[in-house]
Amino acid sequence: MRDTLPYVLILYYSRHGATRSMAEQLAAGVESCTGIEARLRTVPPVSPTCEAVDPDIPAEGAVYAELDDLRHCAGLALGSPTRFGNMAAPLKYFIDATSALWLNGALVDKPATAFTSTSSLHGGQETTLVSMLLPLLHHGMVYAGLPYSETDLMTTAAGGTPYGASHVAGQRSDRPLADSESRLVHAQGKRLAHLALALVRMRAEAR
Ligand SMILES: Cc1cc2nc3c(=O)[nH]c(=O)nc-3n(C[C@H](O)[C@H](O)[C@H](O)COP(=O)(O)O)c2cc1C
Repeated sequence: MRDTLPYVLILYYSRHGATRSMAEQLAAGVESCTGIEARLRTVPPVSPTCEAVDPDIPAEGAVYAELDDLRHCAGLALGSPTRFGNMAAPLKYFIDATSALWLNGALVDKPATAFTSTSSLHGGQETTLVSMLLPLLHHGMVYAGLPYSETDLMTTAAGGTPYGASHVAGQRSDRPLADSESRLVHAQGKRLAHLALALVRMRAEAR
């Protein structure tokens, strides 16, 4: 018998805190649903040298993800700052180490989504979200963006896309989440949680 609740893994990288703020708001959306939890995890920076130089436990924020966090999740939200229109290398580095999960089909039929933060409005949010979608599809996950029934998508003058939530942090990385950005990423977490619960049931019935 299961003695722990299913969880949505919110796996993000954040250097200056904007993506982390989104991750925490997405977690609040997940936790607004009963019967499921949010698990926040981050990834370490990568270094061009061969030696690890950072402590095993980050000084603040979420702890580093392990493969088992991903293996046993009921749903996954991937978050990254935009780096030249792409996801950040630390997150890509972690994903590139997930072949064992791919071989076992550990993520097949689980729902997933993505979110990002940029400094500028047209700095590549959608391409970054799509860059995160690609490995999720290879893993057989069911990608869920944001539907236009979230009316903020129609009116936002900041972040927010049908491919996933986004945030414009500004050139100094000092802009807090706009109300619409905050509502959208919260809704994304809530939707992912509902989908995760539905697909947990679906997979159990198919067994
Ligand atoms: C190497 C590098 C590349 C970046 N590329 C882009 C970019 O293509 N478009 C953009 O708008 N911002 C870009 N940025 C800015 C970050 O995406 C932005 O500051 C983001 O909000 C940082 O998120 P964080 O606070 O979670 O670290 C880049 C930053 C760095 C360091």
